[in-house]
Amino acid sequence: MVTNSLLFERAARVIPGGVNSPVRAFRAVGGTPRFIARGEGAYIVDAEGKRYVDYIGSWGPMILGHGHPAVLEAVMKAATEGFSFGAPTEREIELAEEILKLVPSMEQVRLVSSGTEATMSAIRLARGATGRPKFIKFEGCYHGHTDALLVKAGSGLATFGHPTSAGVTPGAAADTVVLEYNNVEQLEAAFAEHGPQLACVIIEPIAGNMNFVRASVPFMTALRRLCTQHGALLVLDEVMTGFRVALGSAQSHYAKLIPGFAPDISVFGKVIGGGMPLAAFGAKRDVMQHLAPLGGVYQAGTLSGNPVATACGLATLREIQKPGFFESLSAKTRQLVDGLQAVAAENGVPFSADCEGGMFGFFLLPELPQNYTTVMTTDKERFNRFFHAMLDAGIYLAPALYEAGFVSAAHSQADIEATLAAARTALR
Ligand SMILES: Cc1ncc(COP(=O)(O)O)c(C=O)c1O
Repeated sequence: MVTNSLLFERAARVIPGGVNSPVRAFRAVGGTPRFIARGEGAYIVDAEGKRYVDYIGSWGPMILGHGHPAVLEAVMKAATEGFSFGAPTEREIELAEEILKLVPSMEQVRLVSSGTEATMSAIRLARGATGRPKFIKFEGCYHGHTDALLVKAGSGLATFGHPTSAGVTPGAAADTVVLEYNNVEQLEAAFAEHGPQLACVIIEPIAGNMNFVRASVPFMTALRRLCTQHGALLVLDEVMTGFRVALGSAQSHYAKLIPGFAPDISVFGKVIGGGMPLAAFGAKRDVMQHLAPLGGVYQAGTLSGNPVATACGLATLREIQKPGFFESLSAKTRQLVDGLQAVAAENGVPFSADCEGGMFGFFLLPELPQNYTTVMTTDKERFNRFFHAMLDAGIYLAPALYEAGFVSAAHSQADIEATLAAARTALR
């Protein structure tokens, strides 16, 4: 019989660590990764035939659940017409138009194949457009695995970063300034020191790579003000939050809280591909004109705007615009988060949780953390026990305490209730 353990052993012989992306290996929580055979709506089924309620959703893209009929139909039709041409197609225009209609801060968008590629290109664009070398990122935010972004804070305030990965040279990290998330004072100091040399600041508006930490309104307000004052571009990495926390993405949420708020460059991925390799970055026309073939910032891709991926993304974006979609998704996610909070309270477990749209996070901490250092004070052993108890009960949460969770339109009332019942036992 095929088992997860046998597949993991076999995988480890031919794929480093047995996985094609590190978090899948369950290193943080221990145990054997589940090899997924198929997805069905809100569920994934592993190689042993065990079914799980899926709160990962491929780390965000599967906002409609697995195998949504309209998406499936669009993908199958596109596949019969051709996988890839390396020449422009009408569907790329349609997807670009659809994205721009929903995100008014952008006038043009360039399609790429992964979030990593999109953030890398956005930073190159910011550097090219401003003629400046440096940029700011925040500890705990993940923007993909390009060299200049695999950087952590050095010692002391506003110092340049140190590589977090072997193979990244100090030179590649030298122009990256790494600051604490939600720390206005540090931000002011960094702009005072490096202002004229800063091309951009890149930020996850709701940081899903430290579970779920919102940029506070004062912090986002200061960020926007400082970028404008110093001529640096504000890059919102909405790879995770884009079309996931609201139809207008996280930027529409902040625009309601901060009058006139808009980023200069936005980056998308995940939901815009509906589970296919597709991502994008966009801005006003004057910034986007710096990109090749119009301008001097080179950027390209054999599979960019892939016909099957764009069909999948378009069908997904059309579904999420249907009346009541986000209201229903948000209510369901809120019910899950409030339910978990109540179950934790029943058991006297320190717990805090938050959500926006179809994205949520929870912490075994008494209060919602504001930065990475606080997130990492979580009792890891307790989290890992909770994770495994939930997994055994058929509830698949993210296998690391610093990852966000995702609810899809396919999750039913019964799924949420089953999750809360499992949590009640797991937290006991
Ligand atoms: C906020 C954010 N930016 C960028 C990326 C990188 O995207 P990809 O994994 O598609 O390269 C991720 C991936 O999880 C992400 O969460």
